[in-house]
Amino acid sequence: MIALPDPRYALLDEPTPLQRLARLERALGRSGLFVKRDDQMPIALGGNKLRSLEFWLGRALEEGADIALVAGGPNSNMCRLTAAAAAMAELDCIVFHNADSTPESRRMSFLNQVFGAEVRYLGEMDETLRAAEMERAASALRVGGRRPHIVGDPIIGALGYVRAAAELARQNEDLGGPIRHVFMPGSMGPTEAGFIFGNAVLGYPFEVHLVSVEYGRDELDDRIARILRGLASHTGLLTAGVDATHQQYHMDHLGAGYDQPTAAAEAAILRFARTEGVLLEHTYTAKTFAAFLDLAAAGGPPPEEGMCAIHTGGLPALFSQFDRFATRSAEAG
Ligand SMILES: Cc1ncc(COP(=O)(O)O)c(C=O)c1O
Repeated sequence: MIALPDPRYALLDEPTPLQRLARLERALGRSGLFVKRDDQMPIALGGNKLRSLEFWLGRALEEGADIALVAGGPNSNMCRLTAAAAAMAELDCIVFHNADSTPESRRMSFLNQVFGAEVRYLGEMDETLRAAEMERAASALRVGGRRPHIVGDPIIGALGYVRAAAELARQNEDLGGPIRHVFMPGSMGPTEAGFIFGNAVLGYPFEVHLVSVEYGRDELDDRIARILRGLASHTGLLTAGVDATHQQYHMDHLGAGYDQPTAAAEAAILRFARTEGVLLEHTYTAKTFAAFLDLAAAGGPPPEEGMCAIHTGGLPALFSQFDRFATRSAEAG
């Protein structure tokens, strides 16, 4: 375990399952294929942001906050998980969507209300304007005597995956160390930067493979580097920097960009569903697992070096992705 001084509001008592992909191993003719099931958590259908929320809420409670504010699209996993975790921590919660209130967006956001959050629709706007709107709402709450905490600091959020790296390293050791390569989505940065930092603190038990699902390589690299520097100054660990030779970028599954489906992602969804009963969604996990499948089949790590994909969750989105499936028209009409 890596000692972190930050307050942590414990949401996860047990490690998430590390599952061997035995059927896929047989189909691809190689062993040592695993998935780390961060979609299998006991709260709100799970997902990566729950690990970050342990530290975001730890900070909020330490500051004496009484209401959590969070922003994202109507389908946002971070919003859903914040609504659930805030309710558990007995904090009120307001969810801000940079979207119009339409029947579709209200359906996607419905679980936030189930968890008791107030949902506010800001209309279509970019993330900078959305953040300004949330700041404005926080000021208004303060004037009214409330103590709001805006959830989402990338450095604090990354601490969750510093812990996750240690958790996976321990599980791997328990199995005799079959895993050398870990695959995860490359997106806004906290999840992957936290994992890279934890991996470095542990002495690089893993090679980390980032499958970009949102940005070009330079921007993804910049985001990660910024969070890694922030983690070093925040924790006092690795102040000499992280050895970047243990991280690799995979850009060939981004397709037309963030949230845009690709044929390989759809094929990965169907393959994992039909071999292992594991569900993926188009935005984050399907592209990551498509890269994992490609490299497990050919041109990737040598067969004696095991591979593990981190399933970061996000499954509720799948229920609104029906129209993205070419398979739907081919097979279901
Ligand atoms: C399911 C899922 N996976 C991966 C990510 C990417 O995480 P990060 O923003 O920390 O890069 C997200 C972000 O919301 C997500 O919801």
